[in-house]
Amino acid sequence: MILSGDTSGIKNPGEFVNIKLDGLYLRRPISVCDVEGDKLTLIYKVIGKGTEAMSEMSEGTELMILTGLGNGYDLTPAGDSPLLVGGGVGVPPMYLLAKRLLAQGKRVSVVLGFNTEDEVFYEDEFKALGCDVAVTTVDGSHGIKGFVTDALPDGYSYFYTCGPMPMFRALNKAVKTSGQFSFEERMGCGFGACMGCSCKTLTGYKRICKDGPVLKREEILWAD
Ligand SMILES: Cc1cc2nc3c(=O)[nH]c(=O)nc-3n(C[C@H](O)[C@H](O)[C@H](O)COP(=O)(O)OP(=O)(O)OC[C@H]3O[C@@H](n4cnc5c(N)ncnc54)[C@H](O)[C@@H]3O)c2cc1C
Ligand code: FES
Repeated sequence: MILSGDTSGIKNPGEFVNIKLDGLYLRRPISVCDVEGDKLTLIYKVIGKGTEAMSEMSEGTELMILTGLGNGYDLTPAGDSPLLVGGGVGVPPMYLLAKRLLAQGKRVSVVLGFNTEDEVFYEDEFKALGCDVAVTTVDGSHGIKGFVTDALPDGYSYFYTCGPMPMFRALNKAVKTSGQFSFEERMGCGFGACMGCSCKTLTGYKRICKDGPVLKREEILWAD
């Protein structure tokens, strides 16, 4: 979905927007995939009422959106050759991140993980940016058969990831460097007021919507 409007509040890759939809009390959080001028690109999967309503909207529909939410990724520790790992709906925020890292002259490797070929998206877009791209599908119908951890390259300087919790647990065991994880936690207010997304970390309680969604590897308390 491409939206036009005031994008000046969007600063860092990994930030999200929160979309107000008619008849639904809670806004729906979606990651910023790309932003250029007044154009904002969001990619979403239809899950329930909110995303279904979004998919049925006609061109020209006006939306009430809070932008500039969350901390986003910190690009400073990336090193020369960062690795970006996106799983499913965790792929979109990797796109703006890749663009920003490439603009800094980094060599960017991307691993994109999906269940099956029908779900694969943005492989060509990442290649067009100039990233080294590997795609995995669990059923082997496209790219490398298996999980993102089956396609990790050698020699990366740092990693960034967004995706589901099982992928995070596997990645945390497989990765060799420091890095940052972006959590897609269920949210209430989405801007730090309700504590509905609070979670315990090694550096105290954090609100995923406000102090996250990006947490550094070193501060995450792994349950297993
Ligand atoms: C920071 C962040 C970034 C996200 N980025 C993307 C993205 O780029 N693309 C994308 O497809 N999805 C993304 N999600 C997940 C997306 O918010 C949910 O899929 C969506 O809100 C589902 O709403 P629904 O009404 O269709 O589903 P319902 O199941 O009807 O939603 C019911 C409630 O649960 C919440 N909810 C349901 N699933 C999730 C979920 N996985 N994560 C968080 N809240 C959920 C909804 O916001 C809503 O409040 C992101 C979530 C977070 C927290
Ligand atoms: S959702 Fe309300 S504080 Fe995070």
